[in-house]
Amino acid sequence: MPSDAKARRAASKKKAALNRKQALNGGDGGVSSEASSLNGDSAPVTPAMSANNSTNNLAAMVGDLDLQAAARAVTGVLASHPDARDVQISSLSISFHGAELLTDTNCELNMGRRYGLIGANGCGKSSLLSVLGNREVPIPDHVDIFHLKREMPPSDKTALECVMEVDQTRLYLEKEAEELAVKTDDDQAHDRLMEIYERLDELEADKALVRAGKILFGLGFSKQMQHTAVKNFSGGWRMRISLARALFISPALLLLDEPTNHLDLEACVWLEQELRNYKRILVLISHSQDFLNGVCTNIIHMTKKKLQYFGGNYDSFVQTKAEMDENQQKRYKKEQDEIAHMKVRVVCLCMPTYT
Ligand SMILES: Nc1ncnc2c1ncn2[C@@H]1O[C@H](COP(=O)(O)OP(=O)(O)O)[C@@H](O)[C@H]1O
Ligand SMILES: [Mg+2]
Repeated sequence: MPSDAKARRAASKKKAALNRKQALNGGDGGVSSEASSLNGDSAPVTPAMSANNSTNNLAAMVGDLDLQAAARAVTGVLASHPDARDVQISSLSISFHGAELLTDTNCELNMGRRYGLIGANGCGKSSLLSVLGNREVPIPDHVDIFHLKREMPPSDKTALECVMEVDQTRLYLEKEAEELAVKTDDDQAHDRLMEIYERLDELEADKALVRAGKILFGLGFSKQMQHTAVKNFSGGWRMRISLARALFISPALLLLDEPTNHLDLEACVWLEQELRNYKRILVLISHSQDFLNGVCTNIIHMTKKKLQYFGGNYDSFVQTKAEMDENQQKRYKKEQDEIAHMKVRVVCLCMPTYT
């Protein structure tokens, strides 16, 4: 008799295959490719840009070259199991133009946790995110990464189309599912397979359209704006489209560097709520303590060229840190007292005695 797990797996596979077949037959769910313009009553839209498509593509390609990566020297060793969903890099060192940002530290990212990455300005937080995003350390291929760093390049596609444009992710996930399906007795492979089916399900055409619309709406795009060509939006709004894509793809490792920078209060509140439910690994840089408090389950403190890990949100980090500092202060005082006491004893012992 097949085990429960096998039966569940078979049912999920069947469902996913059926969904995929329906999606292929039904096209992309009726996304309108017609570019419409806004009526101009709200702020976000700038006058249409005149750049043609080939220039846009070239600009996007040039933008994708991370020129700073060439100036970085990075070493690190994969310490987690290559099939595991958690990622652990040990002996991680990063230097930029010869200046050390991190020296022989551990980068530990566990599935289901939402990390707030904090540290002094210029200590290398954004560089660490780029190192992870560019896979400059050995992160297993099955961990797909989305690093939000720049706005969506201008094009004739509508905002909704850009968010729905996830074929690459879908193909990647399908290929991985095929490979995992043969590893029938491996529990880790089974867990990953179930997660992939869940994600493929989310990316299917009919559900995807609703989800993409919801995400864009949450980030401030009205129905009309969702059907507006990307080239008609300002940089800030194109950044929101990039953010919407990241949330839509929902990757295994999501890297967000100051995502609230381009958002108004309403969109910030919505994003906080959305990220609070993020089920995979999130690493977030934000200057807003409230935002970190609302979203994060863990804090990574980048200090003295090391990464320190704390459980809880920003407030609990501050509290734990204060306690640690107080304890350290007490230890230091105790040591100083002991040293002073020993000095007195040594002086006493060295003093000549007169009888
Ligand atoms: N474009 C750049 N040109 C020169 N130095 C840079 C550049 N970007 C980053 N750096 C250097 O790299 C260090 C780390 O920067 P970054 O990762 O942006 O820090 P953070 O995000 O913590 O503020 C900084 O101290 C800065 O001096
Ligand atoms: Mg930064």
